[in-house]
Amino acid sequence: MLEEKEIKNIRFVENHPDPTGEIPLFLSPEETEPVRHLHRTLLGYQATPLVELKSLASRLGLRSVLIKDESDRFGLRAFKGLGGVYAVFRAVCDRFGLDFTALTIEDLRKDPLLMEAIGSLDLVTATDGNHGKGVSWAAGMLGCRAHVYMPAGSLEVRAQAIRDAGNAEVRILELGYDDSVRYAETMAKEKGWLLIQDTSWEGYEVVPSWIIQGYSTMVYESFEQMKALGYERPTHVLLQAGVGAMAGGVLGVLRNLCGDHMPRVAVAEPHEAACIYESIKAGDGLPHAATGNGVTIMAGLNCGEPCTITWPIIRDATGWAFSCPDQVSVTGTRVLAEPSGDDRTVESGESGSVTAGLLYTICTDPAFRDLREDMGLDERSVVYLINTEGYTNPDLEK
Ligand SMILES: Cc1ncc(COP(=O)(O)O)c(C=O)c1O
Repeated sequence: MLEEKEIKNIRFVENHPDPTGEIPLFLSPEETEPVRHLHRTLLGYQATPLVELKSLASRLGLRSVLIKDESDRFGLRAFKGLGGVYAVFRAVCDRFGLDFTALTIEDLRKDPLLMEAIGSLDLVTATDGNHGKGVSWAAGMLGCRAHVYMPAGSLEVRAQAIRDAGNAEVRILELGYDDSVRYAETMAKEKGWLLIQDTSWEGYEVVPSWIIQGYSTMVYESFEQMKALGYERPTHVLLQAGVGAMAGGVLGVLRNLCGDHMPRVAVAEPHEAACIYESIKAGDGLPHAATGNGVTIMAGLNCGEPCTITWPIIRDATGWAFSCPDQVSVTGTRVLAEPSGDDRTVESGESGSVTAGLLYTICTDPAFRDLREDMGLDERSVVYLINTEGYTNPDLEK
């Protein structure tokens, strides 16, 4: 068990990264190459901005703060569509024996017989919102139908956003997130539907590996954009985690890109759903479930069980795990919405902004001075964040 510390209601544990840890093959440059190819061919594709917040960096005493802004990816307001669309495409190619490296979604759409066959497919998934939008969007493009289950407490506005994104029947269940995933799995088995779930467990690893590969596009784009801004690579990376599929996927690609110069890594979660935090704290190398009550405004991070195929990547790359109160994400949304100097406004929802809030807190609150020093956050630091979503309920947040 690693030692847990707490400052002003933010808990953290310091981990010992293992730079020799294995990176799964599915995140290698060769295996992720077809992902970018597919994304680039999609209608509406364009690289999302990597925003350099110069004024914020100088206020925080850092060299640079670079935030990859996913708030308008494919018009879906979150990064998640990257994974959903790639996995649905791969699953369809798999089902019909098609060469995924040679085809695009447009190619499939040009074949009426094939489209008729794809139209008979039913997809199913559980989601807090963003992943469901991606699957619905892909289903709409391919003329098939998605069945999307949301956990209890999900907002109707998020359910409607999933319907509007493409073609989905959406139901809000009386279950928590992890049980909603089990429900989707049961429905897939009973009805013969294709399960497109953005987390893995023993025996269900192929589809999630496609979804996680889908996230790699964010990192490749970011590195090209960083170079154009004059930075070779970041010195620090702060990532938010639900099940950790996104964080693990990003870290796997980062390790391949950075080699021996891997940045220092911190992972942030909400107090009430901190499964990566609990797993790192346990110190036994194994994934553990969260212990909280699952009540948090960070809906996208409200997951109680780690994704099994990305957990080892996170374990081996992470230096600090954080468990945060909702207030940290509120701080992040505010800091990004009300920038100082010439900085651009970044629209960030609750799950997107927690890392910005955490960085801001660590660098501005004197109570965190020792931690900040331990993390090596100083005027030489180039900090990379991902704003994973825009406002989740624009009507309320205006
Ligand atoms: C906006 C947002 N950020 C981050 C995450 C976390 O991703 P993961 O569950 O793969 O850790 C999610 C997951 O749904 C999300 O919707």
